[in-house]
Amino acid sequence: MKKQFIALIFAVLPAFALAQAALEYPNDHVDIDLADKAALQDGARTFANYCMGCHSAKFQRYERVAKDLGISEELMMDNLVFTGAKIGDHMKIGMQPNDAKVWFGAAPPDLTLVARVRGTDWLYTYLRTFYEDPTRPYGVNNKVFPNVGMPNVLVGLQGRQVIGCKQVQVVEHGKKQYDPLTGAPITHEACDQLTVVPKTGTLTEAEFDQKIHNLVSFLAYSANPVKLESQRIGVYVLLYLAFFFVFAYLLKREYWKDVH
Ligand code: HEC
Repeated sequence: MKKQFIALIFAVLPAFALAQAALEYPNDHVDIDLADKAALQDGARTFANYCMGCHSAKFQRYERVAKDLGISEELMMDNLVFTGAKIGDHMKIGMQPNDAKVWFGAAPPDLTLVARVRGTDWLYTYLRTFYEDPTRPYGVNNKVFPNVGMPNVLVGLQGRQVIGCKQVQVVEHGKKQYDPLTGAPITHEACDQLTVVPKTGTLTEAEFDQKIHNLVSFLAYSANPVKLESQRIGVYVLLYLAFFFVFAYLLKREYWKDVH
């Protein structure tokens, strides 16, 4: 009986996993290049301007960011530091977690390591899928974080995003479908789609995606600032090992010469 019960659990578990996957909004993929300094700089600027009102990055120092991203101290202080902090300070904010809880229902978490916790694809999708929902306190909801407490702070750039109907390309077996005669994409009208109300944001859709790409790049850097350096050091370590191997081999040959 017990065995059967256990077998049953294993039999139905995948069904739950599938149901969960079906409910989850599919994440868009984003390619991050940590060597792209321009993207990281733009992301840092967006982070300081739009996120640090509520979120800190308290395990990171302004000075380190300036150095890693190739920003001069002066530029950094003028354009990225708004809290009266000094260049050597951690990227903390003035908002108190208890106040934030009252205002938003949840305290905005520190974002230094969020890219490791959530993954870059999740972040890229999350920041682009806020939509208007009058039932929520701030009038917005989110596709990958339902009933989120965060307001849509980027609405001025993206424009007002609503759920509506639009033409989307038909996809069968994971392949986008094209008309065999004209080569034009085959589309059908789908509702429950995110659409931006035209002319309500300052950026086009492609520009907004790029902004978010840059912002997520910065968050990925911040979660792993030594990654670039470890890659560089890794090359030297391998070169050293290759070099050392030659001498070790010669030495071995020398030692064993008289043994045989
Ligand atoms: C007005 C305050 C406010 C601003 C500005 C703000 N956020 Fe938030 N954010 C929140 C709150 C509150 C939460 C917690 C939401 C919850 O748990 O329901 C949150 C949650 C998040 C989360 C989810 C964290 C997690 O793992 O649970 C991410 C990621 C995030 N914010 C990124 C950003 C980024 C990037 C910016 C800048 C573009 C930004 N936020 C600007 C208030 C803010």
